[in-house]
Amino acid sequence: MVRMVNVCKAYENGTKALKGISAEINDGEFVFLVGPSGSGKSTIIKLLTGEIAPTLGSIVVNGYDLEMIKPAQMPFLRRTLGVVFQDFRLIDKKNVYDNVAFAMHAVGASSRDIKRRVPYVLELVGLDTKTRRKPNELSGGEQQRVAIARALVNNPQLIIADEPTGNLDPARSLEIMTLMERINKLGTTVLVVTHEKELVNRFSKRVIAIDNGKVISDGMDGYYNYET
Ligand SMILES: Nc1ncnc2c1ncn2[C@@H]1O[C@H](COP(=O)(O)OP(=O)(O)O)[C@@H](O)[C@H]1O
Ligand SMILES: [Mg+2]
Repeated sequence: MVRMVNVCKAYENGTKALKGISAEINDGEFVFLVGPSGSGKSTIIKLLTGEIAPTLGSIVVNGYDLEMIKPAQMPFLRRTLGVVFQDFRLIDKKNVYDNVAFAMHAVGASSRDIKRRVPYVLELVGLDTKTRRKPNELSGGEQQRVAIARALVNNPQLIIADEPTGNLDPARSLEIMTLMERINKLGTTVLVVTHEKELVNRFSKRVIAIDNGKVISDGMDGYYNYET
């Protein structure tokens, strides 16, 4: 669950990246956040993960009010989130299995739970035959699926993906979005940031469009009226 009310963000250099964003995402929803480069999409993602703080406005994520949250509670908020980045951010020296298992070790999961859970998520993302490969032995689309498996492995309430298909060809991009849709159907709330209009319009999902730090539309009408 996400609730943003009148969220503004000015960076130290004076750039007003967000100028009063309000939006609510309920548990179980699949939402695309779209907008041209520089419109404020990544700023929203960084606010939701607590990486940066708003200049004004209130943000609640999975029950945590980011204004009130104590530093000691931040790890608990982060555990409710799975974050996927455009550039994958995998560990080069670890194989697929260990990249995903590492995320469970990091939160103190038992070996027994890790042995049960990692194969399940790797099968879910279609990588069960490539568990021993290193990232550099995988295609871009496969690497992104490892990143998605890692984001999912601790069973977050909300998956946030910032331009997860940015470096992939259209066929691979469609596969990644279809995977995100499947994850959503299994019960995880999904927020996907993209500027890929064609891709968004292949799915009938809620689309929040922003431009110049403001929400310009929010609905099920796709991305048709919007220029990148
Ligand atoms: N750390 C930063 N310091 C100053 N300005 C920034 C910083 N990060 C982003 N911006 C600016 O804020 C605006 C929104 O950026 P961003 O949220 O990254 O947009 P998007 O992800 O939609 O491309 C842009 O004008 C960008 O240059
Ligand atoms: Mg961005």
